[in-house]
Amino acid sequence: MARQAYVNGRYVPHDSAAVHIEDRGYQFADGVYEVVTIVGGRMIDEEPHLDRLERSLRELEIAMPMNRTVLKMVMRELVRRNRITDGLLYMQITRGVSPRDHKYPGASVKPSVVMTTRQADYANNAKFADGVKVITIPDIRWQRCDIKTVSLLPNCIGKTTAARAGAYEAWQVDADGMVTEGTSSNAWIVTHDGKLVTRPATYAILNGITRLSILRIAREEGITFEERPFSVEEAKAAREAFTSSATSFATPVIKIDDATIGDGKPGPLSRRIFACYMDYCRGLRAEAAATPQPERARRAG
Ligand code: PDD
Repeated sequence: MARQAYVNGRYVPHDSAAVHIEDRGYQFADGVYEVVTIVGGRMIDEEPHLDRLERSLRELEIAMPMNRTVLKMVMRELVRRNRITDGLLYMQITRGVSPRDHKYPGASVKPSVVMTTRQADYANNAKFADGVKVITIPDIRWQRCDIKTVSLLPNCIGKTTAARAGAYEAWQVDADGMVTEGTSSNAWIVTHDGKLVTRPATYAILNGITRLSILRIAREEGITFEERPFSVEEAKAAREAFTSSATSFATPVIKIDDATIGDGKPGPLSRRIFACYMDYCRGLRAEAAATPQPERARRAG
């Protein structure tokens, strides 16, 4: 069977899947999305992803287009139809189709729901094992980066800049010289006294689901961590660094701009976190309990 997508109540051939040209997602980037990784046929952190999806929708006053049980049935059906064992599910919900007008349309406009899947063996990506290079760039985004909106142009610019510099990711830096996050991942360092550091979940970053799972694993493993901003200088002088997302897990960072991190190889704590997280993805560790996602996202920090 040809690859399928889900569009507003229908499973359709991926190649011809489409929404209307006056969809507000197309005209205003007025929508949100989630990326859920699939490892060995299991959706990783499905409930926390759906919690964050609902939160993003609430923040933008977009109605949840169907209840969570039905949404999960659609997700499963698309994964089944496309026979995805390893890869990802992409889900996008926009405010819907309405004649172009900046202000939100009335409640009669139904949100558009689109889902696609992709088969890919992210879990065995050799690049991650060897470690990656990141560059630093100014964070030019808006002040609600906690909402997982499809409005990603600054992120696209940053990722392209990184690629052109031969780097995997760009870590964005705020006006105070502090790292916020990557263009599609959360930033972490390990201090010389072995502490894990990542920026707190405020409006300045997306509270990554992988980030939350890594924090929980750190707690379970007795690894000390601090949620606080860190500067580019501190990152460059750190003992280790890594960057986390649904599709890159906890990818060791071995170079930031021209600074080599540690001895230029993935450090022991990064490797341990990566291994623990992959065990978790493969069902070898306990599932996440009720999710902490993320009413506590706040302005400061
Ligand atoms: N990106 N920060 C940003 C800006 C992101 O876009 C992402 C995820 C993350 C990590 O979030 P999570 O751990 O929930 O994947 C942090 C997804 C993967 C994407 O846009 O493809």
